[in-house]
Amino acid sequence: MQVRLNKYLSMCGITSRRKAEKLILEGKVKVNGKTVKELSFKVDLKKDRVEVNGKLIRPQRKVYIILNKPPLYLTSLKDEGDKRSIIHLLRGVKERVFPVGRLDYNSEGLLLLTNDGELAHRVLHPSYKLPKTYLVLVEGKITKAKLERIRRGALLEDGFAHPEEVLIRKTYNSKTLLEITFTEGRKHLVKRYLGHFGHKVLRLKRIRIGPISLGNLKRGQLRYLTREEVRLLKESVGL
Ligand code: URA
Repeated sequence: MQVRLNKYLSMCGITSRRKAEKLILEGKVKVNGKTVKELSFKVDLKKDRVEVNGKLIRPQRKVYIILNKPPLYLTSLKDEGDKRSIIHLLRGVKERVFPVGRLDYNSEGLLLLTNDGELAHRVLHPSYKLPKTYLVLVEGKITKAKLERIRRGALLEDGFAHPEEVLIRKTYNSKTLLEITFTEGRKHLVKRYLGHFGHKVLRLKRIRIGPISLGNLKRGQLRYLTREEVRLLKESVGL
């Protein structure tokens, strides 16, 4: 059986098909020892040896994991010296998975990890509009009028941002617990967005990505998604 080289790279968990094309054009991919820059090149699954940056790659079983990232862990697969990183929580996972998007060092909650490059690309890309929902504790009280303003969207320094939904979950004396959903994932988006309205974020926890909920997964624990969850997740991004 033959598949296009970019598809092969994504089957091996290297990256999405689109980013794989970039790697090919940059001359980072070799087939049977020769650099291939042709995007239409087809790989024979049985015979060909494909290398990326000098490393032999092979198709992998696709796995989909969710982790409840605790606060004060970096979303990084490297050992980061004195700061703890999620790599310490992934012991026992044999497949080479990577996190789909980031949670800040002090944020917590649902982190999806996979070796499915195409799915990862679609979960993150704003054009697929997959909702990500956060529980956020902010400083200050939020009146109904203010909530309406927050729902309308705002111009941030890197463009307009518009949440899909904002709900008040609880009101305290000088704090508010919000549930906010965005279908995009720019860096520090939730903190910057609520900061724009004068509300400093005190705690931030992601609780949902599309059809996948954190549920009662304990802090620091992970689990493999069920077949049905994988099916729903793929369906939600057109796969
Ligand atoms: N938005 C943020 O500001 N931080 C996160 O960790 C996730 C979304």
